[in-house]
Amino acid sequence: MNAEARRPRIADGPDLEAALRAIGDVEGWLSEGQARRLWHAGKQVEPPGQIVEIGSFRGRSTIVLSRAAPEGVQIVAIDPHGGGDRGPQEITPDAERGDSDNHRFRANLERAGVNGRVRHVRRMSNEAHRDVDGPIDLLYVDGAHRYAPARDDIAAWGARVPVGGTLLVHDAYNAIGVMLAQLRLLFFSGRWCYVGRTRSLAQYRREDLSAGARLQNALRQAVHLPYFVRNGLIKVALVARLRPVARLLGQPDEDAWPY
Ligand SMILES: C[S@@+](CC[C@H](N)C(=O)[O-])C[C@H]1O[C@@H](n2cnc3c(N)ncnc32)[C@H](O)[C@@H]1O
Repeated sequence: MNAEARRPRIADGPDLEAALRAIGDVEGWLSEGQARRLWHAGKQVEPPGQIVEIGSFRGRSTIVLSRAAPEGVQIVAIDPHGGGDRGPQEITPDAERGDSDNHRFRANLERAGVNGRVRHVRRMSNEAHRDVDGPIDLLYVDGAHRYAPARDDIAAWGARVPVGGTLLVHDAYNAIGVMLAQLRLLFFSGRWCYVGRTRSLAQYRREDLSAGARLQNALRQAVHLPYFVRNGLIKVALVARLRPVARLLGQPDEDAWPY
């Protein structure tokens, strides 16, 4: 039996509801359902464990992880706040935009009462390895969504997650770069067991998989490929201003990009 299966499931409760209220006004792309999945994963980390988040933006996911993490668990948030690779179609760096994100990030963490719990490393993820010591029990990847950085975050930071640890990837089955990184590193992996997803938030557990389990693991991920296709069609419809088409494809808010 794996480590996660041995752990008792933690019930939803007032702490989770309080965490959701704390991010009520915090901008970002993490949906409520995704926040719930993240919260449960954060709650499972045992002290003196470590949570590392790549891509914090204005603190939405950082607050959820910090509110969930038991006392004694360290939380590291890595984000250069350079205003680039920031959100859908916001790839080019912009220092003013980045400083504004940094200001909002600090203010939001303060307001949520978790400022003292989080160590912010204001660097690009590929330059931050030396700022983080030891193994990572929960790795949350939500930084640059282009293929190369997404691939490097999953590969290089994922290599620091020991057996039993957790990897969560946002914009999985959604951003093309992240999807390609999933295909390359996760679909046929002998190291990452697919656990499930909430919309574009995919969860994996670090395990050593046998050949048979790898095949099953690949198939369990492949059945979600139609969701990637659907998201792509919604984006095309939104760019082409065909909002009724986006609605037909199940996009509830026709002004918002799927995530
Ligand atoms: C989609 S947002 C993250 C959203 C955040 N997790 C939330 O819940 O609101 C992407 C963030 O990744 C950051 N980012 C971009 N390139 C990065 C890199 N190379 N390393 C770490 N973070 C990066 C951006 O500054 C931006 O704040």
